[in-house]
Amino acid sequence: MLKGKKILIGISGGIAAYKTPLLIRELIKRDCQVKVVVTQNALEFVTLTTLQTLSQNEVYYNMFSNNEYSTEHISLTDWADCFVVAPATANIIGKFANAIADCPLSTSFLAFDKDVFIAPSMNTKMYSNPLVKRNIHTLKENGINIISSTQGFLACGYEGEGRMQEPIEIVKFLKEFYSKKLELKDKTILVTAGGTQEQIDAVRYIGNNSSGKMGYCIAEELASRGANVILVSAKTHLEVQNNNINRINVVSSEEMFVQTTKHFPKCDVAILSAAVADYKPINQEKNKIKKAQTNLNLTLTPTKDILATLGKEKKKNQILVGFALETDDELENAKKKLINKNLDFIVLNSLNDKGAGFGTPTNKITIIDKNQKIEHFKLKTKEEVAIDIVNKLVSL
Ligand SMILES: Cc1cc2nc3c(=O)[nH]c(=O)nc-3n(C[C@H](O)[C@H](O)[C@H](O)COP(=O)(O)O)c2cc1C
Repeated sequence: MLKGKKILIGISGGIAAYKTPLLIRELIKRDCQVKVVVTQNALEFVTLTTLQTLSQNEVYYNMFSNNEYSTEHISLTDWADCFVVAPATANIIGKFANAIADCPLSTSFLAFDKDVFIAPSMNTKMYSNPLVKRNIHTLKENGINIISSTQGFLACGYEGEGRMQEPIEIVKFLKEFYSKKLELKDKTILVTAGGTQEQIDAVRYIGNNSSGKMGYCIAEELASRGANVILVSAKTHLEVQNNNINRINVVSSEEMFVQTTKHFPKCDVAILSAAVADYKPINQEKNKIKKAQTNLNLTLTPTKDILATLGKEKKKNQILVGFALETDDELENAKKKLINKNLDFIVLNSLNDKGAGFGTPTNKITIIDKNQKIEHFKLKTKEEVAIDIVNKLVSL
């Protein structure tokens, strides 16, 4: 649910700041990327070294750093998927509610237009002050998610409301929020993965080096966002994790053709990442071909073009995504394929890029959409690449 999320953590100067490093650890454990922005007063409670070490990123704490020209509050807020302010002091809540931007944290808050969560934390008397209550109410009314304080023993010696939720509870809140916000809920998505095998005789086949990993990562990412996934998979050692994935095993390009054309009409989207053979032997011998001291000629015939077939059958409300693995004139060939096969976007990976393509845990892609918008991505793990591809799909 939280995997791959880019989370900006804001820390203000409350005693509960000593717990925020644990929150960062919990998020990192769940494969989130974390960056941190703090108020000057927060640094009275938690050190830059701790925050930088745990988040593995520089902490933003100075609006006007001497080193270089930068607008960190904009680049950070562009980068993040969500913003979690924990603890949120009475002071920072007051600034947020009144659009005051006089420090890195309050300025970042104003520049942020995605999901914001704040975890208030303060002395009971401060918390029950009607002015603080009013500010929290204003934030709520403006779409800010409040991770309500709990009752309990407070650092100031008081017992009562105002205690920040424990880091693990904050993580739970985020998980529940995003599970409800499953953007692909009610969508049925067809994914193909792996390399087909074209039988030559009883024991031999023509295959390729595809591991199926890219398609499996896409299927998992789609399912984690609520989609019902039909995964038509060629032979691979991989397993599916998410129960929302219905895997259909195939071996040959013909079987893949049959399954994809059968399921496509009921799908909202199809992402065809399988490496399907372009040719197959015209005759498949039932028995094993005997070894002989003469040349053996195999006559190959083209297989059915699955992508082109789905492109022709595609209805107005369906989205079709293809892959191109190219070795030369990559962009030009991918653009042609995008048009010829009637795709909504194409994911290009070049065998010329180190770490991209078959049999590697990483990939480096370029996405070209039907409006000819080209987006280049850096070398990433296939899990991360899957997030980029699904983000593109969601943005259409
Ligand atoms: C030891 C200590 C603990 C504090 N804890 C809190 C707190 O939990 N919540 C809060 O709202 N203010 C707390 N304060 C007061 C804030 O630090 C103060 O209002 C400060 O201006 C907040 O600045 P900031 O919001 O820019 O970080 C505490 C102050 C001290 C000295």
